[in-house]
Order: sequence, then C-alpha cells, then structure tokens
Amino acid sequence: MKTRIAVLVSGGGTNLQALLDAEAAGKIPHGEIAMVISNVPGAYALTRAKQAGVPAAVIDRKACGSLAEFEEKLQAILELDGIDMIILAGFLCILSENFTKKWSNRILNIHPSLIPAFCGAGFYGLRVHAAALTRGVKLTGATVHLVNGVPDGGPILLQKAVEVLPGDTPEILQRRVMEQAEWVLLPQAAELWAEKLASAQ
Ligand code: GRF
Repeated sequence: MKTRIAVLVSGGGTNLQALLDAEAAGKIPHGEIAMVISNVPGAYALTRAKQAGVPAAVIDRKACGSLAEFEEKLQAILELDGIDMIILAGFLCILSENFTKKWSNRILNIHPSLIPAFCGAGFYGLRVHAAALTRGVKLTGATVHLVNGVPDGGPILLQKAVEVLPGDTPEILQRRVMEQAEWVLLPQAAELWAEKLASAQ
C-alpha cells in the first residue's frame, strides 16, 4: 500500500517538479503524489501538476476570511483524497499549530538553509539567501524537516551543504541551493518518510 502524498505549493513549483521527476524515475517507490494543492490561483506549479497528470486544486488563501477557513477547506480535500502525508514545496502559508498537531509527524517542509541558520518567521525565498550573503557564511544549503507549530522548528530529517562562492548574488545562490540541495533532498525525504509511514500502516 503506497503512502498517498499531497504536495502543497504557492509558486513556480521547481521542488514539485523534482518530486514528479523522481516518482517517474521510480525513486519514490513507497509513495505516490496523489494531489497538488496551491494557495495561490495560477501558480505555475499547477501547470506542472497538469502536465504530469496529477489532480490539482486551488484554495485561494486571499479569498478565505481566515486561516481557520482555509485549513477547513484544506482538511476536507485531504480527507476526500485519502491523503497520508503532506509535503510543503515552496508553500508560503504558515499553518496553525492546531492543523500541524492534527498532522503530527506527517508534514515535511523544504527550507533553503541549514536550519537553525536563517530560518523562522520572515525567512523565505530570496530573503534566506540575502541573509546568508550578508552574514558572509561560506556554506549554506537546504534542510527537510517535519513541520510543527513553530515555523521551521520541527525535527530535521535531511540536510545538504552548498558552497557560497565569490560574486554570488541571492539569485545565483538560490539557484545553486535549489539544484544541488533542494531538488536532491526532497525526493529522498519523500521516499524515506513514505516508507516509514507505509511500514507503520
Ligand atoms: C524556493 O526559494 C525554495 O527554496 C523554497 O520555496 C521557493 C520556491 O520553490 N522552498 P518552488 O520553485 O516553488 O518549489
């Protein structure tokens, strides 16, 4: 019995694409990407899901009066589709403690730094890499962690280091971290955790 995975997205979906490509290459044998859900209408990640033939849904966070309303709609779709595990892939909405408790140990997130560096509230996207460059670190990277009520605070599953090079801009560094770390780690973590949940079923 494969672990049914929902991937939550907000933007370009390059991490989703890495997951889809890994699944197609047979690298996630214990899981199946059953659903893609975006909180942003028109996110290019939705196009990637369509191209891969994966069902997708939009829950427009801005159209929801509250986070609670958003999470109610999210929970309904996840239950309807028999989802076992959630992966946050470039998903920019902070989920409530109530929701993450309900899905305790079943939500993975990819963060573009070596947690505990450059993480927590306000650290997302290019801001993470700008902060790393400002601090002058020689190594950064990406982290996959379990999600709890604290932004980027859950137990760490996998990390991969990436060199910071002279002349790096936030954009150049982001691309290197994505290519060398995020797109490698997320499929590995998806299989690791899908197998763990499948064996626990
Ligand atoms: C990237 O900054 C990535 O590091 C983070 O979310 C952003 C967009 O990712 N996880 P994606 O291309 O939408 O997967």
